[in-house]
Amino acid sequence: MSRVTENYERARNSLAGGVSSSTRLNKAIGHPMYISRAAGCKVWDLDGKPYYDLCCSHGATLLGHGDPRVTAAVQEALLNGAPCSYENERHAELAELLCETIPCFERVRFTGSGTEATMHTIRLARAFTKRTKILKIEGNFHGYHDQVMYAIGSPPTALAADAPTSAWPASSGMTPGLDQQLILVPYDRADLLADAIQKHAHELAAVICEPVFFNAGCILPSDEFVRVMRDETQKHGILLIFDEVQSAFRMGPGGAQEYLGVTPDLCTVGKAVGGGYPLSVFGGRADVMAKLMPQGDCQHSGTYNGHPVIVAAAIAAIRAYREPGFYDHIFAIAKQLYDGMNRVFSENGVPGKVLGLGARFGIYFGVEGEPHSFRDALPHNKPLMLKFIAESIANGVYFHDYGGGACHHGFAAATTADDVGEILQRLNTAVRAIAM
Ligand SMILES: Cc1ncc(COP(=O)(O)O)c(C=O)c1O
Repeated sequence: MSRVTENYERARNSLAGGVSSSTRLNKAIGHPMYISRAAGCKVWDLDGKPYYDLCCSHGATLLGHGDPRVTAAVQEALLNGAPCSYENERHAELAELLCETIPCFERVRFTGSGTEATMHTIRLARAFTKRTKILKIEGNFHGYHDQVMYAIGSPPTALAADAPTSAWPASSGMTPGLDQQLILVPYDRADLLADAIQKHAHELAAVICEPVFFNAGCILPSDEFVRVMRDETQKHGILLIFDEVQSAFRMGPGGAQEYLGVTPDLCTVGKAVGGGYPLSVFGGRADVMAKLMPQGDCQHSGTYNGHPVIVAAAIAAIRAYREPGFYDHIFAIAKQLYDGMNRVFSENGVPGKVLGLGARFGIYFGVEGEPHSFRDALPHNKPLMLKFIAESIANGVYFHDYGGGACHHGFAAATTADDVGEILQRLNTAVRAIAM
């Protein structure tokens, strides 16, 4: 029995479902991935087998595993005793760095996960506007709290043609009635978005959106959709929240808002911001952030918020993202990898297609044309994707299956052109196997 199988069996006797987090099970291989060590763009499993990592900690390790700059910062913080739940000089340093880097940030707050960041941002938006409803985009994912776990991975029967989607709950156990606080609109339907905002303007606190829709692979919004979103919210005093937990730092230091040229009122960032350590940040307009206690009356607090080890890691990571040439390298690797994968699929007659932006990408199987919404991505052939992932893993390239449809994958900045050459050779073997 391999050490992986042995550990999974052991874990299931004490850890619910054998995992620390539900989406950690990789359906393509029937168990979670067990990693004993990692360095740069590679991970090793418990049996010592190496893999190129195209999951990258669900997007958290953008620099690569064990980046020396981040590790040194963490070690220094540990040597100083890592006292948490107090302020130190580095909190303001990180806040300043973030406000210089992300266009909408005038003030920020630190918290622990993407889920917490969107939860607090939504409370803040309600507190500031004194309205309660939130407009959410169909399929966009904003974490695991009850306010937003609707219309994610909805079955086709829950999607009425040319009409707003129904609030399909993505978990049991959610507070009844919260769906009544949501207005749902399909991605990239500027017409339906404008209608919904105008109809509900008096009761909408915020519009929340993934500005690049990585949770359905990699879908970019049209200029029209983004323009309507910004103009209509501004016109009606509704706060625009960009959830950049996944997109931040992916295609430039200022994230999707800088790339798309539109500044929201508030935004959330997570994953890459902590350089592989558990940090998320929310922030935006100074007048809105002033509503937070102790200045205002809206609560946001937490024992571990701004933990010194994580703050040190984040400062080192953001400085690395801001180094000259960092994104030139990301875009060069992205082109080589995405073009190469598309070539591998077409040369082997497999209907796979990679769409990516910067360091994150989606792979669509059997989807015609370019998807513009969650609905367009629905024909994605999930069984074929699982076969592809299983063969890739057998050939030493790790992709994660998150349990839904088309999802996001990514590479680390530590990846070199030679690494991509090796990855493409291995993927060619994997794709040849599924073509047979
Ligand atoms: C856009 C977006 N928002 C929020 C979250 C939730 O973040 P976390 O898993 O850190 O709670 C995710 C996680 O994938 C995400 O992609």
